[in-house]
Parts: sequence; C-alpha cells; structure tokens
Amino acid sequence: MRFSAVVVVAALVSGAVASPVATPTATQSDPADVYKAQATAKTESPTSKVKGKAFDRYVSIWFENTDYDKAAADPNFQFFAKKGITLTSNVCLTHPSEPNYMAVVGGDYFGLDGDPFTQVPQNISSVVDLLEDKGISWSLYQEDLPYTGYQGFDWVNQKTGANDYVRKHNPEILYNSVAEKADRLAKIKNTTLFYEDLKANKLPQWMFITPNMTSDGHDTSVTVAGEWLKTFLTPLLNDKRFMDNTLVLLTFDENETYTIQNRVFSVLLGDAVPNHLVGTTDDNYYNHYSEIATVEANWDLHTLGRFDVGANVFANVAAHTGDRVRKWNAEPCLSERYFNSSYDGIFTTLAQWSPQPVPNVFAVQNGRTVLPAIQFEWASQFWKTYYHGELEIPDGAHPPVYPYKY
Ligand SMILES: *[C@@H]1O[C@H](CO)[C@@H](O)[C@H](O)[C@H]1NC(C)=O
Ligand SMILES: *[C@@H]1O[C@H](CO)[C@@H](O)[C@H](O)[C@H]1NC(C)=O
Ligand SMILES: *[C@@H]1O[C@H](CO)[C@@H](O)[C@H](O)[C@H]1NC(C)=O
Ligand SMILES: *[C@@H]1O[C@H](CO)[C@@H](O)[C@H](O)[C@H]1NC(C)=O
Repeated sequence: MRFSAVVVVAALVSGAVASPVATPTATQSDPADVYKAQATAKTESPTSKVKGKAFDRYVSIWFENTDYDKAAADPNFQFFAKKGITLTSNVCLTHPSEPNYMAVVGGDYFGLDGDPFTQVPQNISSVVDLLEDKGISWSLYQEDLPYTGYQGFDWVNQKTGANDYVRKHNPEILYNSVAEKADRLAKIKNTTLFYEDLKANKLPQWMFITPNMTSDGHDTSVTVAGEWLKTFLTPLLNDKRFMDNTLVLLTFDENETYTIQNRVFSVLLGDAVPNHLVGTTDDNYYNHYSEIATVEANWDLHTLGRFDVGANVFANVAAHTGDRVRKWNAEPCLSERYFNSSYDGIFTTLAQWSPQPVPNVFAVQNGRTVLPAIQFEWASQFWKTYYHGELEIPDGAHPPVYPYKY
C-alpha cells in the first residue's frame, strides 16, 4: 500500500463536523479527535419516492479481492445467486482497490494506480450530482465509519487494533464535490445508522454499502464475507422497508490474481428482479461503469459525460428503458484484455503532469444528455475529451487516446 500524505484544507469542511473551538479537522484519525467530532457530527436521512422504469431503489454492496471461481464456490454467495441473476462477465477496471471505488461513482479513475489519500477536484462530478438533480435520495453506509462524514484515512477497532474502516473503500468521500458540502457529508454514514434508518423506514433510494475490512473479505476470506452477507441480507429479503421494488447488486472491487482477467462474481437480486429471471445468468459484458449507466437509465438521469455514457445497462433493466445491450467489438477482444493496470492520469503515482480529463459535454445516450452544470463547467474545453461513448474502455495496456498532444 502506498501512502502519500496530503495536507487538507480544514476550513472547507469544518462547518460540517464540529464546534468552532479547537475543531478537529475531518481527516484526523487520532481517537481523541475522532471522539470529539463524533459528538457533534451531523447526520441526514432524506427519503424520496421517484418512480423508476425497472426499480425504485438501488443498493450496491461491495466485497474485496476475490477471484470469480472462489466466490462462485462459496455457499452463501451461491445461496444469493439462486435468488437472482448471476453476471458472468462483470469485469473490473484496474488494480488495486481505490481506483475501482472512485470509478463506480465518477465514471473514471483518472489514472489512480494505488490506494493513497486522494481528493478528486471539486469541479469533477459524481453520481450524486445526477441523483440530486432528479430529487432521488441517497446515502452511503460504511461499516464502522466512526462518525457521519468522517474523512480520515482509516479507523481501527480501538480494542483489538484490527482494521475497520478505510477511506479507499468509500467512493464518494474521495470527491471534493461531496467532501466540501456539509449536507452531502451528512449522508456518508455507518451501518449503525443503516439500522436506524431501516427502523424509521427512512432508507434512501440509492445506497452504497461497504462492510468493514473483516466483513468484506479484505483481511479475511470469501467465507467470512459470505457469512457477513448472509447475516446482513437474509433478514432484509422480506422486509418491505428495504425491499420496495429494490435492485441489489452484490459484487467485488477486483480479482485477487493479477495475471488473469479482472472478472468478478456478481449477482443482481431483490424484488425488482422478475420471477422468470430468478436463478438465471447474464453473460453480457459489464463493468463498474454499468452501475452508473443502469441508475441513469432507470430514472432517466443526465450523465457525467465519461465512461458511464458507453457502459452497458444491466439487461434486466435495459429491457424497460430501451437501452441496447452491446457486445465488446474491438481488438483486442475482451478475453485478451486483463484490466490489471491503470492508464496514466492526474492521480498516477509518478505522473509528471497530466491534463484534467474533460467530459464529453455533447454525449447523448438513448436520449440522456450530460448534466447541464457539467456542460457549463467544461464546455470551453470540449475538444480535449477522450470519451466517445463507446462500450470498449481503456486499461493500462491500452490507454485512452487524447485528441491532442500533451
Ligand atoms: C478543475 O479544478 C482543477 C483543480 O483545482 C483545476 O486545475 C482545473 O483547471 C479545473 N478545471 C476547470 C475546467 O475548471
Ligand atoms: C456511527 O455514527 C454515529 C453518528 O456519527 C456515531 O455516533 C456512532 O458512534 C457510529 N458508530 C460506530 C460503530 O462507529
Ligand atoms: C467488523 O464487523 C463485524 C460485524 O459485521 C464485527 O463483528 C467486527 O467486530 C467488526 N470489526 C472488526 C475489526 O472485526
Ligand atoms: C496483466 O496480465 C497479463 C497476462 O497475464 C500479464 O502478462 C501482466 O504482467 C499483468 N500485469 C500486471 C500489472 O499484473
């Protein structure tokens, strides 16, 4: 694990976390500071009921570092696979963890090739900008996040010293467009608050759930992850406060073995999956950007103008949205693409200089256009974009092609 220390501008976030006197900055992970901030952290649990075309609630649960075959052989993952659709060709983007988490909400990993303390510039949007634009409530639930909106690098179990929470597995906290807004930080919560929201019937319509470093298999095994999943999800299967035309995705951030294709076992389940698809498999090509594309298609959201635009919408959802599920159609063919290293960009460890990746402000996918605020921010540089709305995405061995030299 590479760690690069970053000095954070505390003034930008202090309003979100604590009292005006001796305010701990939100990134401090010293226990005394954490407990002080914990006492005053602000939490929000907004709800909404925006009808979707295929589902009314989306829940993504991410596990860690497991090869496809290992997860497919686990009895608990098998149990849930029988209740839904197994995605046999859901391919991750790169190694290690953090770029995959960054990309699943932002539509790119901007060259990130490690797990450092990273802050995506404020002018780069993520899926929550699209959700809020249509009034769709959202929250992240990070198991053992010590308090709502915590921005520290990690947090360990104070009795055992074992890893609990890590920032690199918290996709939205990486974005300054979230971390610099108090009302957005207030929706980055722990699983204690998941149960409070459930009890109060105040779960949002979009959520991302990260189990802790034991529960997600990172420090343990897929067996432990499967047991956590069984304990967490089984009681929710028939709970109307959770299952309310809900689509749940179970997936992994990346494969364990770097020299094989980075494909992960993934299951779509929930009461939004029609009966005739329960227990089936879907062999179409998807990747982490499909999560954004599926949510965009379901609620007719705008797009980010990045790799979300070209990604396949999950077929069970595309059947209701009119999106065409496409096949990988470029050389080298999909089976010869490993997605096991990152292309260069602004977060590359040894980058000398890289330009800000400019979204394609003119992108249109099945009638969906780029969020007007993103168009406004980036229009003057439109000619610099490397996103063209295609399904086939780059990796370290096949980097994106800039339309100009830099
Ligand atoms: C976005 O923010 C970064 C970092 O502050 C800056 O370098 C870049 O010029 C900004 N881009 C635009 C289009 O404003
Ligand atoms: C979860 O977050 C709440 C609100 O900030 C905090 O009071 C609580 O102590 C946290 N729970 C755990 C297990 O860290
Ligand atoms: C992680 O979560 C599990 C329950 O989900 C809990 O038993 C455990 O104490 C937590 N933390 C660590 C470090 O194991
Ligand atoms: C990616 O996989 C290919 C094929 O196994 C291998 O040759 C290459 O070394 C791997 N790259 C990394 C960074 O592991």
